Amino acid sequence: MIKIDFTGSKVLVTGGAGFVGSNLVEAIVRAGGKVTVLDDLFTGKRENLDAGISYEFIKGSVTDYSLVRSAMEGVDYVAHLAARNIIVSTKNPREDYETNIGGTLNVLMAARETKPKRIVYTSSASIYGNPRILPIVEDEAPLTFSPYSVSKLAGENYCYAFYETYYVPVTVVRYSNIFGPKQDPINPYCGVISKFIEAIDGGKSLQVHGDGLQTRDFTYVDDATSGTLMALLSPRADGMVFNMGTGIETSIMGIVNILSELMGHKVTCDHVDRRDIDNIRRRVLNIERIRTRLRWHPQIGLREGLRRTIEWYQADKKNL
Ligand SMILES: NC(=O)c1ccc[n+]([C@@H]2O[C@H](COP(=O)([O-])OP(=O)(O)OC[C@H]3O[C@@H](n4cnc5c(N)ncnc54)[C@H](O)[C@@H]3O)[C@@H](O)[C@H]2O)c1
Repeated sequence: MIKIDFTGSKVLVTGGAGFVGSNLVEAIVRAGGKVTVLDDLFTGKRENLDAGISYEFIKGSVTDYSLVRSAMEGVDYVAHLAARNIIVSTKNPREDYETNIGGTLNVLMAARETKPKRIVYTSSASIYGNPRILPIVEDEAPLTFSPYSVSKLAGENYCYAFYETYYVPVTVVRYSNIFGPKQDPINPYCGVISKFIEAIDGGKSLQVHGDGLQTRDFTYVDDATSGTLMALLSPRADGMVFNMGTGIETSIMGIVNILSELMGHKVTCDHVDRRDIDNIRRRVLNIERIRTRLRWHPQIGLREGLRRTIEWYQADKKNL
């Protein structure tokens, strides 16, 4: 296992005020790194970043090349997370295109001049569409069913092209569904788990799309963070693409049952229409490549991750 140590290193985190980004920033600072966050606060929030940690904040967009170029000056590592999410992207594909594709191109172009040791680009398992074989391996042919998956894949393709053409050391990680503290249920774009926790806590019934038997690979945010940081630090990750999930398939109703048990509430569900976005029946990732190449594997089981997320919600979030 690679030791996560950023002592003496400067790290730029784009999208660092968002859900995953803010968890990543804290982990880097705890590991001795000096962090700069570049975020336009579109879905991110300054409150996500623990007031107790020290970091530099630049409010601005990755679509602004000169801003990206100056933020990358003297930086050792770049974690590039800034992105418009699937819901925004479906409503406004041009905005998605400008950030998810244009912003990624800006980071890669700036890297040609500023020469960071490594960049990690966070892609998404949504690029697989309806996969032919489960669990999904990285070599599965992409099937882009949404403007979001088109833009995330295009960002990946720019990464591979810049690695091959200009030797920019870049790694792609494809996240499955990530959950955990700081995933804000108030944010209409957030994942299903925090919405369910909020509803159960408030004694409301849950809105489940379709029969709830659709499956996903739910990864606790600390695991996604450690995997991303290992990819950032490892020369063995250069030019590679890695799935980042758990390899375990769980249905939405499976999540409902665990939450209801952990929160001690009997839960009622309203089954509403199937979602019109990311309407994939089954998704689970094969994580053998990252397991063998970087020796990363998830440490936090689903139940424990849900328990910690409930604890965060009840202690911190609910009372804000
Ligand atoms: N959360 C998941 O389950 C998941 C799954 C697959 C992939 N991802 C990827 O992980 C990354 C982080 O996702 P997240 O869940 O934390 O989402 P998030 O919306 O919480 O974070 C995205 C951050 O990017 C910022 N941002 C958006 N547009 C920007 C722009 N033009 N310039 C600068 N900053 C901008 C937002 O303000 C926000 O802070 C994204 O790249 C996303 O595509 C997440």
